[in-house]
Amino acid sequence: MEIYEQLKEKYSAIGQDVDVHLKGLLHSKPITYWDYIQTDALLGLQTQRTNQPDEMVFIMYHQINELLFKMILWEIEQIADNEELTPDFFAERLDRISRYFDMLSSSFTIMGDGMEVEQYMKFRDTLTPASGFQSAQYRMIEFASTELINLIDIRFRETIDRDTPFSHAFEHLYWQAAGKNYKTGEKSALLFNFENRYMEDFITFMKKYNTLNLWTKFKSLPEATQQDTKLINAMRHYDHTVNVLWVMAHLNAAKKYLNSGKESVEATGGSEWQKYMHPKYQKRIFFPELWSEDEIENWGITNLEKHEIVEAV
Ligand code: HEM
Repeated sequence: MEIYEQLKEKYSAIGQDVDVHLKGLLHSKPITYWDYIQTDALLGLQTQRTNQPDEMVFIMYHQINELLFKMILWEIEQIADNEELTPDFFAERLDRISRYFDMLSSSFTIMGDGMEVEQYMKFRDTLTPASGFQSAQYRMIEFASTELINLIDIRFRETIDRDTPFSHAFEHLYWQAAGKNYKTGEKSALLFNFENRYMEDFITFMKKYNTLNLWTKFKSLPEATQQDTKLINAMRHYDHTVNVLWVMAHLNAAKKYLNSGKESVEATGGSEWQKYMHPKYQKRIFFPELWSEDEIENWGITNLEKHEIVEAV
């Protein structure tokens, strides 16, 4: 009866008769695992373009990545939209986000070791000019993690500040270098198609996260919490996993396939990938204030496996 009264209150608040809803329960089908998880829809999304079995590994692993990217963005959003952020809530969500990215980095051998080079070389030709470069969620994770200036191509950082229009900053994001000829301004199909589809969404997203990204949220925590070594280490762990470990795992997989012949082949997206992808050139760092000068200098060069600090920096 107590539950009935609560339900009655709930439904009358929206002008509904609880008894009708309860009668509906008499005929409704019980939920099943497959309806709830939508397994049929999920497992119907793997469509090969070739007859090479390993193309399935490639497709499915990318889809798994996109699902994990979505989980990461979900947690970042919980932090961003929380107007009464507590240190515990922040730390717990950050740990979740890190666990997901740890999983992405440590599982990258599924790409590196899990496909036959010969098969890869066949199905890759059907993918041009598409590339993982065009993963919108990956870019959103970046926008949502750090101050925009840290994503600007290192060569143009001094020309951009908080008063620069978003559209101008966008043209100077580090990843423009993968597809833009800076002398002629001409963009490759890889970049042109990507922007055509997502640029407006990205600008809206960039505006939101300009003040709500993980770094600004961290800076909004009490001063003492910001000095907490455990939290600083968790921030550094996330930064290092995304911007060094994952990047290196990705680069090494790319090298294995694209350097497999006598000469290295062009990437499907057509970038000068060897140079573009190595972390030491772009020095993408989400939280530069949490790293020493020496660590930044050696970003992606020395192995920062021991990236935990003992004392707060
Ligand atoms: C054998 C597997 C893979 C190879 C050979 C490969 C190769 C490449 C290359 C060469 C690029 C540079 C852009 C271009 O295409 O010209 C690139 C960019 C990228 N790929 Fe992959 N990739 C692989 C797997 C993946 C997977 C599983 C993901 C996960 C979604 C992914 C996500 C990305 C992202 C986000 C970028 C842009 C990175 C940046 O801008 O620094 N890639 N990839």
